[in-house]
Amino acid sequence: MPEATANIGVVGLAVMGSNLARNLASREGNTVSIFNRSYEKTQTLLDEHPEAEFVPASTYAEFAASLTTPRTAIIMVQAGKGTDAVIDALTEVFEPGDIIVDGGNALFTDTIRREKAVRETGINFVGAGISGGEEGALNGPSIMPGGSDESWVTLGPILKSIAAVAEGEPCVTHVGHDGAGHFVKMVHNGIEYADMQLIGEAYDLIRRGTGKSPAEIADIFSEWNRGELESYLIEITAEVLRQVDAETGEPLVDVILDQAGAKGTGAWTVQTALDLGIPVSGIAEAVFARSLSSKPAQRAAASDLPGPSEAWTVADADKDAFVEDVRRALYASKIVAYSQGFDEIVAGAEQYGWDIKKGDIAAIWRGGCIIRARFLNRITEAYAADPGLVALLTAPYFAEALTGTQEAWRRVVVVAAQAGIPSPAFSSSLAYYDGLRADRLPAALIQGQRDFFGAHTYKRVDKDGTFHTLWSGDRTEIESAGSGH
Ligand SMILES: NC(=O)c1ccc[n+]([C@@H]2O[C@H](COP(=O)([O-])OP(=O)(O)OC[C@H]3O[C@@H](n4cnc5c(N)ncnc54)[C@H](OP(=O)(O)O)[C@@H]3O)[C@@H](O)[C@H]2O)c1
Repeated sequence: MPEATANIGVVGLAVMGSNLARNLASREGNTVSIFNRSYEKTQTLLDEHPEAEFVPASTYAEFAASLTTPRTAIIMVQAGKGTDAVIDALTEVFEPGDIIVDGGNALFTDTIRREKAVRETGINFVGAGISGGEEGALNGPSIMPGGSDESWVTLGPILKSIAAVAEGEPCVTHVGHDGAGHFVKMVHNGIEYADMQLIGEAYDLIRRGTGKSPAEIADIFSEWNRGELESYLIEITAEVLRQVDAETGEPLVDVILDQAGAKGTGAWTVQTALDLGIPVSGIAEAVFARSLSSKPAQRAAASDLPGPSEAWTVADADKDAFVEDVRRALYASKIVAYSQGFDEIVAGAEQYGWDIKKGDIAAIWRGGCIIRARFLNRITEAYAADPGLVALLTAPYFAEALTGTQEAWRRVVVVAAQAGIPSPAFSSSLAYYDGLRADRLPAALIQGQRDFFGAHTYKRVDKDGTFHTLWSGDRTEIESAGSGH
């Protein structure tokens, strides 16, 4: 058995795990033990990175023996069954007080279940969302750990050592107990879906409206990246649009099949939001837009359906103004997506009893992760100024931003509808905005309909109580003992 020399171990040495192990090894004070189910990956990592001075283990028992106590291991294996198998194996060889961290993309309810089961052994279990893909794992991801306060004492300094740094602060915080970290990572991914869809819609409108080439639109995105939209996703969009396909000489974006894939975290965000009763319409439309794109048979069958009778293009003199309108629509819709995402975090925290600091979440998303963006500082400030903020988009900074963008946003949605260009995220975000700010909603009529066919009762604006109209009788109103819902 090896001597206990490593303060941290990594299980699962595919791309994420090996990069994370290298990141850990590169930080002062860390000695990293590595284990993979099949030994080839362990050997490859040892051979390719002697500088990391990894401590290899070929069995779980060896892995446990190589770790100093409290033993701390980060699992980076295939989410689902793989994760359960590794947890089972580690709980056999670890002792009470040790810490197992799942850094994979687990569903937060699985993390809650696993934490409960592992806690019974006395071992700590931490579900940690890790964002930033391969590059982030290697150079500094944004890390969203849940789990117990006790495990954070040991884990905090280790995670701080490998996290991205934004404005001098490590992009990691103890999000909350049990599944809180994976919950917040899930919502992060949902926001990422919305952000990407909004950028896609902006590109499509500019391209079809102005006839600009992908390379010209890349320049527009580069320009936008110098302003309030500055973010990783805007930056990489310019890179992708500028790329030319070596084989055909065409813009790469024109030879990529237009069917978007998904790994499921966006769908989880929406499913969870439905259960919590939180309208995350921008995120939902982004998930559905990917699904729609990936239905080639339906798209082919529908391709002859009629569109607008007149072709639409933006006159030369109006092109700059149109591009600016699209920029504003994108900014406004993005504010809605974040506002909806934070609503879901607030509702999740309430439902599961987590004490989540919204401002801290925005702060740890400023570096390392896919949705890193300049305006996250504004979110942190908004929650610092008013921790009980009921809707992010009503904070003074965002309300002012919406004041400056909403007219342009409306023009873009009108033009998109008239031109027959799908813009589900732009338009649903605008509908959400108008829904929230409406004095009266047709929900009153819906309550009337529900009372008509199901005697579901309603409340009145002018007095307390719950009421029912005798629709199939003489249509007088009676006060009801029902709940009114
Ligand atoms: N790729 C990304 O950009 C990204 C970003 C964020 C989070 N993540 C998450 O990070 C985790 C790792 O991702 P990845 O792409 O590096 O790897 P992956 O392809 O998801 O998983 C492969 C790894 O899982 C191991 N594994 C699978 N089943 C196992 C089992 N029953 N027992 C032990 N080990 C098992 C494999 O071992 P063998 O070599 O023996 O097969 C291999 O090391 C996933 O949860 C993923 O969702 C990925």
